[in-house]
Amino acid sequence: MPKRKDEPGFSRRTFLKTVGAGGVAAGVLGNAPGADAQSGVNAVGPGAVPVTLNVNGRSLRLQIEPRVTLLDALRMRADLTGNKRGCDRGACGACTMIVDGRTVYACSTLAIEVQGKKIRTVDGLASGGTLHPVQQAFCDKDALMCGFCTPGFVMASVALLEKHP
Ligand code: FES
Repeated sequence: MPKRKDEPGFSRRTFLKTVGAGGVAAGVLGNAPGADAQSGVNAVGPGAVPVTLNVNGRSLRLQIEPRVTLLDALRMRADLTGNKRGCDRGACGACTMIVDGRTVYACSTLAIEVQGKKIRTVDGLASGGTLHPVQQAFCDKDALMCGFCTPGFVMASVALLEKHP
């Protein structure tokens, strides 16, 4: 047990030895053959892996690193730029999408996590040249200021009204 910082005898050397030993142990365990089998987790990455997403009713095959968020995967790799990046930390809602009927912050959701789920973005709301009724209502009522976060507001409103018509 390392000494606390305020205890006599605590030194930078003690701290580094403690941290170093922990780091080595974690590295060995993390790379040990069978570590995945013991935990039951199928580890992938860190390089690009195939990820298939069901977005707005279409199957989308991407080759991305497991760390890529849903927002980045769709905006940067699939040209679905309707949903915006505002804060990139789950606070503003500009990136809101609907996954299996629930709203998610796409900036805080890994793309690889939502494989096999039904993903809806603001890009898929309109039908041909006809806006979704919520999009039309936002236009009719001028329900925006700068408009940057409006796609997130629209998606959140759609999800709310689908759940509570
Ligand atoms: Fe702000 Fe995702 S970009 S919540």
